[in-house]
Amino acid sequence: MVEGGRCAGIALYNNKMIKRVAGIYYSPVGGAAIMTERLARSIGAILDDCSPEDITIECHDLIKEQPGDIVVDEETVVVIGVPVYVGKIPLPAARALREIAGMGAMALTAVSYGSRSYGNALYELKSLAEDCGFRPVGAGAFLVNYISRRSGGRGSAPALDVESIAEFSNAASAKIKRLTGCEIEELRIKPAPFEVDGKMPVHKISRISPKAAAAAQKVIERISLLKRHSEWFL
Ligand SMILES: Cc1cc2nc3c(=O)[nH]c(=O)nc-3n(C[C@H](O)[C@H](O)[C@H](O)COP(=O)(O)O)c2cc1C
Repeated sequence: MVEGGRCAGIALYNNKMIKRVAGIYYSPVGGAAIMTERLARSIGAILDDCSPEDITIECHDLIKEQPGDIVVDEETVVVIGVPVYVGKIPLPAARALREIAGMGAMALTAVSYGSRSYGNALYELKSLAEDCGFRPVGAGAFLVNYISRRSGGRGSAPALDVESIAEFSNAASAKIKRLTGCEIEELRIKPAPFEVDGKMPVHKISRISPKAAAAAQKVIERISLLKRHSEWFL
């Protein structure tokens, strides 16, 4: 530890350090965006407490930005967030993510979903992240609902399962610190493979506009009688 209770940085095996947390999301209606931003900010804040240098936090919107312009490296922890569409990840999100070079950056993959099921989406996103050269170290499926938006009028934010997001952020940050040997060198571990159940889905719907997504959103909520929970894996 160094003065002020901070440790000597979140060191990587090759003398590099975690310096940046980057949220990358695809979010037609806004739920995956607030999920990803919240995850990136809370994980960034926890890692920052353990670093002598400020850890920067940034977020990228795959609908507005050119995915090829998003640059990450080994010193970045990436949070990738997308919504679940019919148990899969939206095809435009998959296409955009394939344009990003993961460069061995540690990644937390997250999907936002309504109260039906996240199907194969979390498995698909983790597999895609691996294919892109990211190093997934955790994954989570988080509930988002829009009831508050309807009762609170236009423009109010979708309601997130903030408790699960906070629990996942704490646990994922602790794992990142263990992997990077932040506090106790002897506890530095190699990333154990973590399992997310599922199989690669077949995509039939190629594109859905944000307007159609918002309309479909209302239908999904109306027919969703099951109450699911957020789930995460490390
Ligand atoms: C076309 C469409 C399909 C969806 N399919 C599912 C689904 O299979 N399971 C589920 O629980 N929620 C489903 N939802 C709800 C979304 O996954 C959820 O609301 C998500 O947070 C929307 O993300 P966004 O606000 O970033 O667009 C669907 C929503 C839409 C618009």
